[in-house]
Amino acid sequence: MLQGRKILLVIGGGIAAYKCLDLIRRLAERGASVTPVLTAAAQEFVTPLSVAALSGQKVYTDLFDLTDEAEMGHIQLSRAADLVVVAPATADLLAKMAGGHANDLATTLLMATDKPILVAPAMNVRMWDHPATQRNVATLKNDGIAFVGPNDGHMACGEFGAGRMAEPLEIVTAIDMALSDGPLKGKHIIVTSGPTHEPIDPVRYIANRSSGVQGTAIATALATLGADVTFITGPADAPRPQGVRVVEVETAHEMLEAVQKALPADAAVFAAAVADWRMAKAMDSKIKKDGTGAVPVLEFAENPDILKTVSQMKIGRPALVVGFAAETDDVIANATAKRLRKGCDWIVANDVSPETGIMGGAENAVTLITEEGQESWPRSGKTEVAERLARRIAEAL
Ligand code: CTP
Repeated sequence: MLQGRKILLVIGGGIAAYKCLDLIRRLAERGASVTPVLTAAAQEFVTPLSVAALSGQKVYTDLFDLTDEAEMGHIQLSRAADLVVVAPATADLLAKMAGGHANDLATTLLMATDKPILVAPAMNVRMWDHPATQRNVATLKNDGIAFVGPNDGHMACGEFGAGRMAEPLEIVTAIDMALSDGPLKGKHIIVTSGPTHEPIDPVRYIANRSSGVQGTAIATALATLGADVTFITGPADAPRPQGVRVVEVETAHEMLEAVQKALPADAAVFAAAVADWRMAKAMDSKIKKDGTGAVPVLEFAENPDILKTVSQMKIGRPALVVGFAAETDDVIANATAKRLRKGCDWIVANDVSPETGIMGGAENAVTLITEEGQESWPRSGKTEVAERLARRIAEAL
């Protein structure tokens, strides 16, 4: 898939820069051509000579290198590639990108390019967790920039946590996805995933056992087929999917708002286990025992039904709306009725009785219910179920 693809690789100044040598090698093995750009700091970690030797290409370092400007101006350089990859993307480079700085060759190229950008951050865990970095990451994601990593692990500085650059092979996969010309290229698909948390008071909430694994796998499978995915997730354990736009929410109300903001879309897959009820009025302060043994009485209110709301939109409804039906009894009959009641096109029905181990487990056994009828898929890993569903969606759109 990478054969003949052109990648502009901006190498930032971090210890992880050494991994770029392996990344270049692996991209070259797959037939991609890599044009490297080194920031001044990157040259402290890897030499232009080793990068040139591995890439077999001229290495660009300086905005004011007149020879380069005569051969190929920076604007042209920024657009000659199919994809711009920034690895390692340091905290400083992310800040410059988010702020729109253009004071050296790398940042100028990143501002001038009209091509998609993929960044692989790498930094100390505290720098990654710093609100300034998180703000910059949110800004960049909002601008449509794709991220791969960072991963959790031991760092060169001796600390442990999030901030390790993704491994070269993970970056190759993310590049593959970003360049994918799959059947869903140009299609925007919304995926909801995970549980929602509905606050009772500032310290307690109502939740459910959804891990978010199935929704995450669906988002990944759709992105792999080339879709532009907006992944709207409640507080789930599953690691966030790569190569998609991630929107984190907590409550059903926030999830509905995020879905409405993400529209229009060609398709929407509602895999989230949305809480059906919330507190009619969440308490502003912690509910205390009063010493008498009296228990609080919680009054519930029904949450908006996101699947139903979108399925029944008169204007701007996605062409394909897919819901899930997690049932414990009469799975097919309940799911078939649910499809009609909610007005969605397809329902992916599954049996979540405790003995199946599906809720929160690694496998799923589903029946796809459409207007034409039903088909049962063999029990398999959630990734395989996701890939099958993604292929079906690609056929339908
Ligand atoms: N769903 C939703 N918003 C809600 C509740 C559910 O979008 N407030 C979506 C889920 O994401 C899923 C589908 O509706 O795609 C089915 O959810 P489920 O909880 O199984 O169905 P319910 O509507 O809650 O029906 P019941 O309680 O009768 O099982």
